[in-house]
Amino acid sequence: MKRLSLFDRIAYAPFNVQLVLTRKCNLSCGYCNEHDHESLPVPVKVIKAYINQLAELGTWSLTFTGGEPLLHPKVVAITRYAKERILYVGMISNVYLINDEMIARLNEAGLSYMQISIDGVHRNSNTMKVLNLMKTNLDLLAQKATFEIHLNSVLGVNDPDEVLEVIAYAKSRGFRTTIGLLHDGTGLLKLNKHQLNVWKEAQSLLAKPWWDRGTYERQLIEKGQAPFKCRAGGRYLYVDEWGIVHYCSQRFSMYQKPLMQYSLQDLKANFKQPKACHSTCTIGCVRRASWWDGWRP
Ligand SMILES: C[S@@+](CC[C@H](N)C(=O)[O-])C[C@H]1O[C@@H](n2cnc3c(N)ncnc32)[C@H](O)[C@@H]1O
Repeated sequence: MKRLSLFDRIAYAPFNVQLVLTRKCNLSCGYCNEHDHESLPVPVKVIKAYINQLAELGTWSLTFTGGEPLLHPKVVAITRYAKERILYVGMISNVYLINDEMIARLNEAGLSYMQISIDGVHRNSNTMKVLNLMKTNLDLLAQKATFEIHLNSVLGVNDPDEVLEVIAYAKSRGFRTTIGLLHDGTGLLKLNKHQLNVWKEAQSLLAKPWWDRGTYERQLIEKGQAPFKCRAGGRYLYVDEWGIVHYCSQRFSMYQKPLMQYSLQDLKANFKQPKACHSTCTIGCVRRASWWDGWRP
């Protein structure tokens, strides 16, 4: 494929691509439908081909996900390879497998950021991604990582008041924080009144970019709907472990095309394609990647 021109890149290239390095996870969060315990890591040669293709498509930012990306035995080499081709390279991880040596290697490979889900303070049957179990690793990251750390609390998984404690902890360590809204298998919101009140209280505590005023979350919470022009398949791609592009992690059957056959025409077509699920969507990464083009037809 020929590399996109600067004009097409600005007009259509993905702002963010999430790429699954392995579907396997070391945890079993009760609310997550994006993992298993047996998948093999995607071979490095195959991942490099995906990265080359994403670079040709003009991808601005690439995020490794899974499963658990740190379970991939070549995650450092893959990060280095990606960083040589794509401006901003991050990873979503539960950091159970992080240690001094891994942080140093990821620093050296040029990782730009790591997003970590911390759903509360105490573990429960749904999540082990909690402060009580992860503070040691998080403190280590605060001391040693040269990449940006971003904590995301999924509201609805734990006692909602614990999310406020996570935000206070994150601030004390200089981490960026966001709150994710719990979705079910179709991407819909599932929150009760107490959780909603905590969400409102937390808004004033979060350091957000100027353009992110929590508007869509507020609308979803108050009205149950927040329509937007979804640019999934254009400005945002979810690439699974078989190299298939989907609109997002929750809409597998809606759209599928092999990444290696993806072209500017697909970016353009999907940019313009209305998605039936847009008004109740809680997928923050898709919403953020679509925001910039909200004014375009
Ligand atoms: C599938 S995980 C993969 C990366 C890594 N293993 C982790 O645990 O963060 C990616 C993100 O999706 C979030 N997630 C999974 N299921 C979700 C759901 N039902 N609602 C909201 N967020 C969810 C997780 O909390 C995590 O932040």
